[in-house]
Amino acid sequence: MNITRTDYCGELRAKDVGREVSLCGFAATVRKLGAIAFIDLRDVTGIVQLIEEDASGFPDVRAEYVVNATGTVRLKKEKNPKLATGEVEVVLSRLEVLSKAETTPFIIADETDALEDTRLNYRYLDLRRPLLQHNLRVRAKILSATREYLEKNRFLEVETPYMGLSSPEGATEYLVPSRLHKGAFYALDQSPQQYKQLLMIAGLERYYQIARCFRDEDLRADRQPEFTQIDLEMSYLGQEQILTLMEGLLRDIFLKAGGIEIKTPLRRMPYREAVEVYGSDKPDTRFGMHIAPYGFLLGHGFMKAEGASEVRGFRVDGGAAHLSRKKQDELNLEARKFSLSGYVYLKRENGALTGSFSKFLSTEEAERLIREASLKDGDALVLAYGKKENVCFGLGALRTKLANELGLIKPDTYDLLWVVDFPMFTKKEGEEGYSAEHHPFTRPRDEDLGYLESDPTKVLAYAYDIIINGYEAGGGTLRIYDHDVQEKIFEVLGLSREEAERKFGWFLNAFRYGVPPHGGIAFGLERLTMIIAGTNNIRDVVAFPKNLAATDPMTKAPQKVDQRQLDLLGLSIKEED
Ligand code: AMO
Repeated sequence: MNITRTDYCGELRAKDVGREVSLCGFAATVRKLGAIAFIDLRDVTGIVQLIEEDASGFPDVRAEYVVNATGTVRLKKEKNPKLATGEVEVVLSRLEVLSKAETTPFIIADETDALEDTRLNYRYLDLRRPLLQHNLRVRAKILSATREYLEKNRFLEVETPYMGLSSPEGATEYLVPSRLHKGAFYALDQSPQQYKQLLMIAGLERYYQIARCFRDEDLRADRQPEFTQIDLEMSYLGQEQILTLMEGLLRDIFLKAGGIEIKTPLRRMPYREAVEVYGSDKPDTRFGMHIAPYGFLLGHGFMKAEGASEVRGFRVDGGAAHLSRKKQDELNLEARKFSLSGYVYLKRENGALTGSFSKFLSTEEAERLIREASLKDGDALVLAYGKKENVCFGLGALRTKLANELGLIKPDTYDLLWVVDFPMFTKKEGEEGYSAEHHPFTRPRDEDLGYLESDPTKVLAYAYDIIINGYEAGGGTLRIYDHDVQEKIFEVLGLSREEAERKFGWFLNAFRYGVPPHGGIAFGLERLTMIIAGTNNIRDVVAFPKNLAATDPMTKAPQKVDQRQLDLLGLSIKEED
């Protein structure tokens, strides 16, 4: 077989008219009009139209056949504005079928109504769609921009093990049984957190890795069981220096992978403001609907549920028409997820407040609400009451939902900000003691060290998340490098010295031999790709993803294994009852 290729389909333009070109690719569509046949030929760069002026002289070609074609470029009589090559067509002189194709289970086109599991079952066909190829290209460009920036800034790429020691922190782990040590297991790394800190203790100063991470957690539209982090750690830098260095990286990534200019420095928003005003630790600031307190309503009418300590709400401009009775019922169902009994809806119509709650308000109170919320005719006010966190997070979820429904989010806008000053500890409801909000090696802010003993809930951490369009695209912290502070943190977490030694001894040992102050961050590569490629489905930016049930419809993994394999590992499977 003699394959010739002089050009790529998607790159032919009017300047090529008159040239003889040879192309390779898939026949995307084949149409016959009398003796003439039109073939749209698709390769990695795009599509161009081929013409057989007398189809009887050419071999039969059907959709998805792989062909090698030679012909002369000419101007099209009627341009096709939808195609980059729409000005030209190639009149064929030779066409060779390199491989035939059966009828595919779905049509290969950007727009598809095939079920996702069918697409994943035939992922190699799905990946022929230009849109998915574009997403993979964006992903690759993010990585090359990353490597370029980090190498320029003295970062060293180091690989750390995937198979390590099971660690009690974080999500459930995937375990790997050992053949040589029967009954013992490796754990797949959830992130290279401890290794990268050890690299700082090793004196490498600036590390990065494009690291695959494994977490056995419930999946969502932005979560995969295995995903990739752009993982970094740096010595001798404070929080602001790290954020500034990372802004440079983000600037390069957005520009080189998406042609998007972002303005730095980015806004820094305290966690508390994010929760109180946006109802989320990943606030989307592309639209308003800011949450405000309306404490004077507490105890009014039905707003006196047990434990209710807060009334908060936000205005929906022109929202009165949208918030029909039916819509309200639908939204109230969501409220249960946040342990709220429902939301309260007030509308301003013909100057007055309407809605079932309005009857509990005196004229003065109604006027006060209209004034404080700046309600115009046709606006709505959504209120929630209950425990502060529930109220804020519940309203936050509703805020995002309504913004989407009302089309308040402009496409192609990129909203990047840092959320900072996270609490160091969380107190679990109904439980004794505290747990670490990030991980127990996160450094508390110097000015809050005094609260470690008096009131740990007041301790804020050197922790920062990068939020883009409401997604948590990355997060990191400064780490503890002082032995005494580490001991105190373990104390607050209720970990005895022996327990800490047993769980983290191998790691803590290293801290006895000189530790450069250090900190780091990890970006979710898939989330960055989703944002730049403009999709809200993480599976669109992974070549071979798992579905929401964490299975691969193509290989059918995970599967049971042979008894022989189990025997080799010394494992037996407990029969389910
Ligand atoms: P964290 O757990 O916040 O931090 O993870 C960092 C970033 O990784 C992405 N991410 C995910 N992406 C897809 N699927 C998942 N299941 C998934 N889980 C997390 C998110 C997240 O912001 N070692 C620390 C970082 C550090 O402190 O340096 C860590 O792993 O974008």
